[in-house]
Amino acid sequence: MININQKGSLVKILICEPGNKNALSIEVIDYLIKLIQDLKKNPKIKVISIFSELNNVFMAGADIREFSKFRYMEGKEYGKKGHHLMNVIENSNKPIIAAVNGYALGGGFEIVLACHIRFASEKAIFGFPEVKLGILPGFGGSQRIFDYVGKSIATDLIITGKNINVEDASKYGIINYVVSSDNLENEIEKYALELESNSSIGIKYAIKSINNRFNKLRKNALNFEINYLAECMDNKDFNEGTSAFLEKRKSNF
Ligand code: COA
Repeated sequence: MININQKGSLVKILICEPGNKNALSIEVIDYLIKLIQDLKKNPKIKVISIFSELNNVFMAGADIREFSKFRYMEGKEYGKKGHHLMNVIENSNKPIIAAVNGYALGGGFEIVLACHIRFASEKAIFGFPEVKLGILPGFGGSQRIFDYVGKSIATDLIITGKNINVEDASKYGIINYVVSSDNLENEIEKYALELESNSSIGIKYAIKSINNRFNKLRKNALNFEINYLAECMDNKDFNEGTSAFLEKRKSNF
């Protein structure tokens, strides 16, 4: 279930899918794309934020149960869809704030990276567990991580699939503001008020200009990433990795 809560010109998207820990199913991706596109057109909205209503998880990434059945062609379509969502977020004319209060893994981490501003609490944990499933970060993460860190840290994060806590994420420059989980909502509301008093036109063109720095540079790389994701999904490691997750056992690659 995805709820919407508006306070002044700030809209909060509240994701609450406890059954799969807010995993990005195709249905959720499509819903978020449409929702954000509609919010972008609404003149009463100036700032958008993405929250999880779950206690310990922001988003557990792609829906492993759903995509475990995919092969090359479905993988490619799925990759394109994920990229579309990240592009809609990143190129929003209104700033989008990630409010991270738990695990942000895989596609969840990729959403965090695509947002314009990141608030996180002491409970936030970030990681790219994809290699444990036989794939790579396929919703732009293998490229967007470079907006924040260099090759050494990016490679370490991606090939180990390890989790990092909010201190490390903050140290790496990924997180703008670390606030206590009790204050997360209040702090984002205060920040949105600050943005509200600024010019929406100025902000819109500033976002465009900032994105220009990155978009052209990584366009080809993002297309390659989609193909690599699809290739991984055609492979035996993907069967083993997703089966192991669903059977709650360690994978044997
Ligand atoms: N896709 C589909 N289902 C998921 C999921 C995902 N990404 N993440 C969790 N779930 C499901 C679990 O299978 C479990 O289902 P079940 O109750 O039918 O067994 C349920 O959500 C609860 O998950 P659980 O692992 O017990 O919750 P937790 O609070 O102990 O741990 C996480 C939370 C996010 C740390 C853990 O679920 C996790 O690591 N998820 C996978 C993350 C991942 O690999 N993402 C990358 C995808 S590319």
